[in-house]
Amino acid sequence: MWTSDRFIRLAGIELPIIQAPMAGSALSDMVVAVSEAGGLGSLACALLSVEQARRELETIRRRTSRPINANFFCHQPPRDDRARQMEWRRRLNAYYVQLQIDDNTSVPTSARTPFDDKMCDLVAEFHPEIVSFHFGLPDENLLLRVRSTGAKILSSATSVIEARWLEDHGCDAIIAQGLEAGGHRGMFLTEDVSTQVGTMALVPQVVDAVKVPVIAAGGIADARGILAAFALGAAAVQIGTAYLHCPEAQISPLYRQALKGTRDNDTTITNVFTGRPARAIVNRIMREVGPMSDIAPKFPLAAATLAPLRAKSEMAGSADFTPLWSGQSARLSRELPAAELTRRLATKALEKLTLLQTLA
Ligand SMILES: Cc1cc2nc3c(=O)[nH]c(=O)nc-3n(C[C@H](O)[C@H](O)[C@H](O)COP(=O)(O)O)c2cc1C
Repeated sequence: MWTSDRFIRLAGIELPIIQAPMAGSALSDMVVAVSEAGGLGSLACALLSVEQARRELETIRRRTSRPINANFFCHQPPRDDRARQMEWRRRLNAYYVQLQIDDNTSVPTSARTPFDDKMCDLVAEFHPEIVSFHFGLPDENLLLRVRSTGAKILSSATSVIEARWLEDHGCDAIIAQGLEAGGHRGMFLTEDVSTQVGTMALVPQVVDAVKVPVIAAGGIADARGILAAFALGAAAVQIGTAYLHCPEAQISPLYRQALKGTRDNDTTITNVFTGRPARAIVNRIMREVGPMSDIAPKFPLAAATLAPLRAKSEMAGSADFTPLWSGQSARLSRELPAAELTRRLATKALEKLTLLQTLA
């Protein structure tokens, strides 16, 4: 038996495993596979247009009647700081020259738009059982609209203060995101990366500080990690990087290859790709311009200037300018279909838990 069934009951699922929403890396195939296996599949909508998100949700609802999670970013859009954008462009100029990219190449604007009325209409139409946010919560009116659909609301906290804030603002469960996690830090009450907390220290302190169920995230990639999370008081785990190895992950061969060779100390926190701190496999741009840069424009504006560099170098088979988001536990994972991975993680964790309960 799991030591807590609070999240399973809240979400109406069988297994306390959430496949982390992963913008740009997982779509309906992954969500359906995980939810059908008894976990909670998550559709990240941050990089999708409303029409793309609608298509994915239609597909998901057609293929499974199990609970699902729709996930959104909810950052404050930055003001357009031309001077900073130009300084960033100048910083990257040597790469533009080296890759022979025409200065007049149109620079695409970054697609990462925060949760808004149009996305909220989709939530009202497809009523995902869970709606989760990254970077805090949207404004009160939007949150009320989400709540009125009957969805349970989740968001990520990277500190006890953020966890309490989320509980005070009505979250039904809180994801405690440790420093080991791949992708963007969910931090929203601080910009200081140096004081971010690891999963082992964060989860029990958040468990002690809030009344709602806590979901552990960051560096969990096998049954041992799940067991540890439950021992720390978590009621579920949210796993990202391990699912990137699944055939359902929509990632390039370059990215997949990089993940396969990633060791424990091959990742770090960087802001060069989007302007916000996120964990990725160290590559050329991170080494030479970051990993943290004072001149990177505010999230998500930094991404647009990098886009032509990324496109050109990827065409030549290089991931020098590609964000290879990954947590610290990439090497613990194996390539398995998402449904099998979900069931295997749960079965093995339960076996270990039962053994420990018997011994105790
Ligand atoms: C490729 C990738 C993309 C991510 N995108 C999102 C996202 O769109 N929304 C979100 O809430 N979290 C996102 N995350 C963070 C995850 O929700 C989660 O915190 C993290 O994956 C947990 O750590 P792990 O990767 O070590 O399992 C992303 C993580 C990865 C690896």
